[in-house]
Amino acid sequence: MTCRLGILLSGRGSNFAAIQSAIEEGRLPQAEIAVVISNRPEAPGLHLAEALQLKTVLLEKGQFENRLAFDQALVDTLQAYGVQLVILAGYDRILGQSVLEAYSGRILNIHPSLLPAYGGKNMVGLKVHQAVLDKPEAESGCTVHVVTDEVDGGEILGQRRVPVLPGDTPESLAERILAEEHRLYSDVIRQFIETHFSSKETVQNAAV
Ligand code: GRF
Repeated sequence: MTCRLGILLSGRGSNFAAIQSAIEEGRLPQAEIAVVISNRPEAPGLHLAEALQLKTVLLEKGQFENRLAFDQALVDTLQAYGVQLVILAGYDRILGQSVLEAYSGRILNIHPSLLPAYGGKNMVGLKVHQAVLDKPEAESGCTVHVVTDEVDGGEILGQRRVPVLPGDTPESLAERILAEEHRLYSDVIRQFIETHFSSKETVQNAAV
């Protein structure tokens, strides 16, 4: 079977691009991208998805009366495209309860630190790397984890480590980690699909 991925992004989209390349190059043969959803019209990742002729949907919070309506639209969109596994790839909104329930255990995220260190609500972007340099740590890295209602707190599925080098800036450390993110994410997605979507029983469980 092919597992239908729903990509959620808000910005650059380099992790999305790496996943798409892994699919195209046969390194992630059990997956296809069913839809790319962005909450920001200007997101370069959204425009890349359009250029690749993938299905895209823009869901901006301003289009909706309230949080619940936004969340419902997100669930409806994912289900309309038959998404089985949700991949957060630089998505900057915390998911609401109805999304977490509809896709419980079937939402993955990547974070640019060695979780549980340097995770949580305010640990985003260059702040993560600045905190690592301020400590100072000898190494950092990236983590793919299952998304739950605890920000950056779900089960850890895979990590890669990188050294912190003398003279590193938040930007240089981010760049070194990003290269590892691109390798890690598709590796973990492949393993996750093999584990959770290969037998008849789990396919049924995964059906939404
Ligand atoms: C990555 O650093 C990822 O770890 C974090 O957001 C960033 C997204 O980068 N969650 P990109 O949009 O995939 O290039």
